[in-house]
Amino acid sequence: MIVENYWKYFLVPLIVYCVTYVIYLWRNDKKKKIFGNSGRTERVEFDDSDLGEQDDLSPALPEDLAHIPLKPEILPTDVMIRHSREFYEKMNKRRSIRNFSSRSFPKEIIYNIIRTAGTAPSGAHTEPWTFIVVESMDMKEKIREIIEEEEEMNYKKRMGKTWTTDLKPLKTNWVKEYLTVAPYIILVFKQTHSFKSDGTKKIHYYNEQSLSIAVGFLLAAIHSAGLYSLTSTPLNCGPAIRSLLNRPSTEKLVFLLPVGYPAENCLVPDLHRKPLNEIIVEY
Ligand SMILES: Cc1cc2nc3c(=O)[nH]c(=O)nc-3n(C[C@H](O)[C@H](O)[C@H](O)COP(=O)(O)O)c2cc1C
Repeated sequence: MIVENYWKYFLVPLIVYCVTYVIYLWRNDKKKKIFGNSGRTERVEFDDSDLGEQDDLSPALPEDLAHIPLKPEILPTDVMIRHSREFYEKMNKRRSIRNFSSRSFPKEIIYNIIRTAGTAPSGAHTEPWTFIVVESMDMKEKIREIIEEEEEMNYKKRMGKTWTTDLKPLKTNWVKEYLTVAPYIILVFKQTHSFKSDGTKKIHYYNEQSLSIAVGFLLAAIHSAGLYSLTSTPLNCGPAIRSLLNRPSTEKLVFLLPVGYPAENCLVPDLHRKPLNEIIVEY
């Protein structure tokens, strides 16, 4: 009797439930196609916002990729200790500067620095990076104009009191003279994805982490060449600079680094680095 009179009220929720369940099953099947049937449907610590739908299951690298013998350079222990100590001492002298000289240097050094950055590891060897080298004054001026305009708004409106207060000891502001003074600017774009030769999408796993490691290599190479830099992440400038440099929408500006010699009498904040016992935990 109840069923006869009220069946209409049960029908709609039942249909909604069935449709939702079918969509859930269909999406789960897609995930299994991409990630394999590992028995785990929840993926952790991976931002798949760039993933999209992928029906093509051929690997981005050749399926029959050869594995070749590694030729390791095994060093005597005392040499290892000396090298590791010397490398630390060298890297501990690296400083960011905000006051550059316009003195130039051979571009070959920039090429070697970027070659070094390109040796960084990357998720599934996708090498998700593009390094743009800007030497032309015209382009530097355009970049500076975009950055100073955005940075003025960042400092005055977007960053807020806590952030700007924390930056005060470093004496930074929205005026970035170094952008037109340093002989080169390197802009580092992450590639969210690319395309395989057959036109299907090649996913760049962990592209931001891979890019950041490459920039670490870049900074070490700049320092090792006897040059100086400033790591910067221009806030809200990405789209305008990407369009200025004519880069595709698959690329996003992450870092911008002027590279050069320090100006005469260049000052740096008297910062101290945490000692080993404050950054290490051993078990
Ligand atoms: C991700 C990142 C973003 C940064 N952004 C800026 C920036 O926008 N402007 C700036 O003047 N310095 C920037 N810096 C430089 C830091 O302020 C600097 O590394 C820090 O004060 C330590 O100084 P040191 O590099 O000489 O060790 C940035 C550094 C990093 C790692």
